[in-house]
Amino acid sequence: KRCCKIQPSMLACDLADLASEAKSVLAAGADELHLDVMDGHFVPNMSFAHPVVASLRKHVPDAYLDCHMMVSRPSQWVEAVAGSTKGAGARYTFHLEAVEEDELDVAGVVKLIRDHGMQVGVAIKPGTAVEALSAVVALVDMVLVMTVEPGFGGQKFMPNCMPKVLALRSEHPDLDIQVDGGLGPSTIDAAAAAGANLIVAGST
Ligand code: DX5
Ligand code: ZN
Repeated sequence: KRCCKIQPSMLACDLADLASEAKSVLAAGADELHLDVMDGHFVPNMSFAHPVVASLRKHVPDAYLDCHMMVSRPSQWVEAVAGSTKGAGARYTFHLEAVEEDELDVAGVVKLIRDHGMQVGVAIKPGTAVEALSAVVALVDMVLVMTVEPGFGGQKFMPNCMPKVLALRSEHPDLDIQVDGGLGPSTIDAAAAAGANLIVAGST
């Protein structure tokens, strides 16, 4: 029995050949495509954004697009990402730490994403306590517990994030819990044992 969905992070691919790389991981059995959007502000790196996602969508009309938004003021890109992912389904995962005081509150960001027809994920960095999620968990479709500091592929899995996964799983038996960062053959068992069921994998 297969317990986890595997979501390859396209950050690890040849970005100049994104469409064929995406088709090849889907053909190999990938459940969803994990798309890492970085703004050089919330994280100290940049990657690609919605114009690239819109081009990719035309090549993979049936794929579920799991957009991991490592951006400040996450509400500002909801409309653009919704437009770029239209089709077989998409999730907009924003970072709890990225919501600014003068934008919508967290519940408002969740509603905005839903109003644009996407599923909603909320992410926390390794230094953010799981308690910070208590008011928002009931509103979202998925929680992402980062297992590296966001911004770069190829980092080492942080096992000290597993108690957060365990705590979420014990309170929410049916919640989708994603882990991202340093996942591979030597770390996936620890993540799954803690209760993660969505596994992002880039460099591996
Ligand atoms: C890191 C990204 C990850 C990254 C994972 O900021 O969110 O999705 O691509 O890459 P690996 O699997 O190499 O840690
Ligand atoms: Zn990611």
